[in-house]
Amino acid sequence: MLHRRQFLQSAAASISAAGLAGCDPSEFLAPPTNNLDIQHARYNVVPNVTTTNMVSLSPDAAPSVLRARQGVPFTATVTNRLSDYTTMHWHGIRLPNEMDGVPYLTQFPLGKDESFTYTFTPPDAGTYWYHPHCMTMEQMALGLTGALIVDEAEDPGFNDDIILNLRDFRLGKDGQFKELFTPRGAARGGTLGNVRTCNWDQNPVYDARTGGVARVRVLATDITRIYKLFLPNTRGRIIALDGHPLLTPLPWPTEQAPLTLSPGQRVDLAIEIPEREGTELNLMALIGGRPKSLARIRAMGRSDNRKLEELNPLAANNISEPNLQSAETHEFVFGWSPSGDLPDNGFCGSLGYTFWSINRAPWAGDASGTGPLATLKLGDSYILRLRNESPNVHPIHLHGLTFKPIRSNKRQVLPNWTDTALLLKEETLDVALVADNPGDWAFHCHVIEHQKTGLAGYIRVA
Ligand code: C2O
Ligand code: CU
Ligand code: CU
Repeated sequence: MLHRRQFLQSAAASISAAGLAGCDPSEFLAPPTNNLDIQHARYNVVPNVTTTNMVSLSPDAAPSVLRARQGVPFTATVTNRLSDYTTMHWHGIRLPNEMDGVPYLTQFPLGKDESFTYTFTPPDAGTYWYHPHCMTMEQMALGLTGALIVDEAEDPGFNDDIILNLRDFRLGKDGQFKELFTPRGAARGGTLGNVRTCNWDQNPVYDARTGGVARVRVLATDITRIYKLFLPNTRGRIIALDGHPLLTPLPWPTEQAPLTLSPGQRVDLAIEIPEREGTELNLMALIGGRPKSLARIRAMGRSDNRKLEELNPLAANNISEPNLQSAETHEFVFGWSPSGDLPDNGFCGSLGYTFWSINRAPWAGDASGTGPLATLKLGDSYILRLRNESPNVHPIHLHGLTFKPIRSNKRQVLPNWTDTALLLKEETLDVALVADNPGDWAFHCHVIEHQKTGLAGYIRVA
């Protein structure tokens, strides 16, 4: 099936380009302009049943994997073929503010048949993603969440690069969408889907070179679900989180101690593919406490006899280290909405409820209204104190800047560079950053029902 093959990137392309001795490989690998038409799609998420009314970039397939190269300009012309308004956002990429795709804050939303050309040069290699940022609830829930892979300036040398985009859909028995959320869910932990997919398929299988070392990129692009992941009987290593190579090693996840990946987050794994052709490995998640397979990887071809130990570590991305001595602290309180007031959502859709707030001010999630939650001075170091007053967890995401958790009142934190940190219930989590990218940067919970019912705002860097 062709649409599945596009998720697999063999090493063949980079090998042939490297064979052009004496040429600058980036000239050959620079991605072409991407023409992305946001449109309705039909797809058999459930076998033999066509789900109509999905949203993608083609009429009959999941959103394609986009590829960029570190330090090379990337261009995508996005055209809106829907009757609702939209924009496109590039999650985790440090880009110029006007390319960030946040309606009203950085651009006017796109009406039907309108286009916008996004162009930026990704400074960081790794696993990122894209999704709309207007009518976010509808368009993301109906399918529009895709991977944006930024390839390292130098090929790290994996046999395969497998992209596993995890998400749920809320489908009825007839295979059609049910209500996308419930107010009860939005006011609590969020509304879960009932059909779990990887690249829009249920428990799909992908081939990898027997005895090779594969890079497996897992993206949690669901609007609600927090995944607890593990891979039984697999020899592997966690090599990157949220796009960035690990600063400290992490143990390989197990059923007893799975890896938590919350909405918006990504993990890159290096995996030894078994020596015996046909052997399958499973990416598993604990769903309601039970292990379920989300995707499989099958050894195919003659063995390459490679070992994890042969790999060179990924090169670090160049992120400024915050100066904790001079850093000023700004506090952000995540909690209930004090009033029932419904902020103005412009053309970007309202769920009709206001349940949540940051610093007691609800924000519409897509459209702007109130001023910045904080203004940071360009180039200075800051600590953002994220205080959760609610009994629910929130994956807190900041656009345009990369931060690092430094301490918590609840646990030992993992000091990794990230754009999305899961805030536990009643936790106070300090994260540090250098405010080195000017602009108005959206700051919100990535449980989209929370974002759209108030748990959103923005931070100004000037
Ligand atoms: Cu991935 Cu503001 O979003
Ligand atoms: Cu983002
Ligand atoms: Cu939340």
